[in-house]
Formats: sequence, C-alpha cells, structure tokens
Amino acid sequence: MEELRLQKYLAQCGVSSRRGAEQIIQEGRVTVNGTVVTEMGIKVKKGDKVTVDGQIVKQEKIKYYILLNKPAGVLSSVKDDRGRECVVDLIEGIDARLYPVGRLDYDTTGLLLLTNDGDFMQRVTHPSFEIWKTYQAVVKGVPTETDVKRFAEGIMLDDGKTLPAVLDVVGYKGNNAIVEVSIREGRNRQVRRMLERIGHPVNSLKRISFGSLELGDLKPGKWRHVQPEEIARLTEER
Ligand code: URA
Repeated sequence: MEELRLQKYLAQCGVSSRRGAEQIIQEGRVTVNGTVVTEMGIKVKKGDKVTVDGQIVKQEKIKYYILLNKPAGVLSSVKDDRGRECVVDLIEGIDARLYPVGRLDYDTTGLLLLTNDGDFMQRVTHPSFEIWKTYQAVVKGVPTETDVKRFAEGIMLDDGKTLPAVLDVVGYKGNNAIVEVSIREGRNRQVRRMLERIGHPVNSLKRISFGSLELGDLKPGKWRHVQPEEIARLTEER
C-alpha cells in the first residue's frame, strides 16, 4: 500500500466518508500504532496498525453496494445508543463494515443504499452531486396545479429555498392524495417539510428511486446487491 493520508485511508476502509473521517480523527477516536492521532496531516503505510474506537481497521478489497428496502421503525445508522434496530442489522452474510449512504427518517421506508466504499459514499452524498431522488407519499388532502408550480419554483423552508422540485399527483386514497416528489437535495426531512409547507402534510413516505436505481418490487426488509454497471451508471449520471 502506498502512503495514504489517514482520513483517506479511513474512507477507503469504509469507516465513513472522508469528511466524516476528519471528524472521527478530531474526536480522538483514532490510533495509529497505539498513539491517538488528532491531526489531519499524518500518513499511514503498509504495516501500520490503525484503530477506530479500539477496533482494528483494515482495507477491504471487496467493495459492496447494497440496495435495501428500509422498513419503517429502523434507524439509518450503524448502531444506536438506545438499542433500536439499525439498517445494518438487516444485512446478514456480508463480511464488511457497511454504512448507509445518506439517511431516511425513522418512519420513512424504501430505497437505501449501503456500502463499504468510502469514496463512493463521499461522492454521492456531497451536496454538489444533486442526483434526483423520488419519493412516493400519501398526503392529507389533494395538492393543486398551483402547488405543482410552487414545487417547480422551489419551496421556501426555514433553512432556505429548495432547488426546483417535481410534484405529481398519481392517485387518490379517500380524501387524500398519493403523490410523487422528486428532489435533488438531501436536507433533513426535506420532503415532509416541503409538503407540510404547501398545506399537505405527509401520512407516509417511501423512497422509490435514487438516480437510475429503482426500488422495484423488493419487499420491506429485503435487500439485493447493486451490480458494478449500475453503480457506474449512477455515478456517470450527472
Ligand atoms: N425527505 C424526508 O422528509 N424524509 C426522508 O426520510 C427523506 C427525504
């Protein structure tokens, strides 16, 4: 192995994105050859012993990309202090440290990618990546054409105006509507907040696509491997 900056090494090992690794280092959670390292400049080479939270970190040769249909009531994280179920608990038989690519809310279901490829994770979660993500929601009431136009112009939220988004009414459920919303950002609870802002709060929310990847008929709690061609298409999309 060539010499690598510690944060890049941690990302390549799948510990987190490079930016996430910087934070982990700053928090004093990383040791190199038995010494806690909190500076960024340090390089590691073959034979160095690196640990995070006391666990040895090794470069994993096989890169895994998993597409999970996240059920409601599961956290999009690796572990939870309060013992709640996490998405990685649903993936059995993979000998690698997997991390969710971005997050879905606790109650949101649908397409969530997991990977041990830190560089891929950093790329697709970076705000500049702006990949389209589509969600299906059941909302209170029925949005109008004016609401559709407001989405197309961007919705003013507490943390600023969103990028132009797409809102489609695709069906009805009693007095409520089934809508599809496509956004290019990944702000916290963004779809819920956008729909709330136009007066149509969300009853349930499911992500059905992430760029060219689709959830299809994968059942909640089930997962599949994403093929390298699918990953290549996804990263070339924009
Ligand atoms: N937008 C939301 O409001 N929630 C999610 O889980 C994802 C996008």
